[in-house]
Amino acid sequence: MQIRNKVKLHDLNFELYLKEEEIVSYIDKVANQINKDFKDKIPLLIPVLNGAFMFAADLMKRITIDCEISFTKLSSYSGTSTTGTVKTLIGMGNDIEGRDIIIIEDIVDTGKTLEKLYTETRKFNPKSIRIATLLYKPEAYHHKIPLDYVGKEISNKFIVGYGLDYDGLGRNLPNIYVLSENK
Ligand code: IMP
Ligand code: MG
Repeated sequence: MQIRNKVKLHDLNFELYLKEEEIVSYIDKVANQINKDFKDKIPLLIPVLNGAFMFAADLMKRITIDCEISFTKLSSYSGTSTTGTVKTLIGMGNDIEGRDIIIIEDIVDTGKTLEKLYTETRKFNPKSIRIATLLYKPEAYHHKIPLDYVGKEISNKFIVGYGLDYDGLGRNLPNIYVLSENK
């Protein structure tokens, strides 16, 4: 399939940033670490919708130990910058008690979403909580929760594709694109 070098979503232009093969190599790295760290355990993966659905699917296919999955939803994003308010959490349940949890994020930006998620997850008394994120923006991160599995650190730029959207569009792109400097 021909790779698109540029995409336009709504009013903005984006340029190719991470190709699918590269993304897959980050996912392989995370999966290998999880396979090693959770050997003889049955972790419960909790991906955060909507953004993490694609990463969660590709990651789960590479996890070779027994594992389970249960999605949650909590969105804070509107447009190209965080709105500052984190909405409520859907789908967190009693299946968490006593379990080894791996929260699955597409991207950790300010960490506000993760903070809320972590606090909520703890209320259900899990045995342990680990965080796996495909992408991480260290310059934007303002929280102390350790990120256990990071696919790739990126600069503080707005990106789309591979599950990530700009006002609803771009999630279906197999590669990741960055907002063009010259819009
Ligand atoms: P945080 O609460 O600021 O860490 O934002 C986390 C959430 O915002 C992520 O789970 C994404 O869904 C979304 N997000 C953060 N950065 C980007 C981006 O560059 N593009 C698209 N969505 C993003
Ligand atoms: Mg998200």
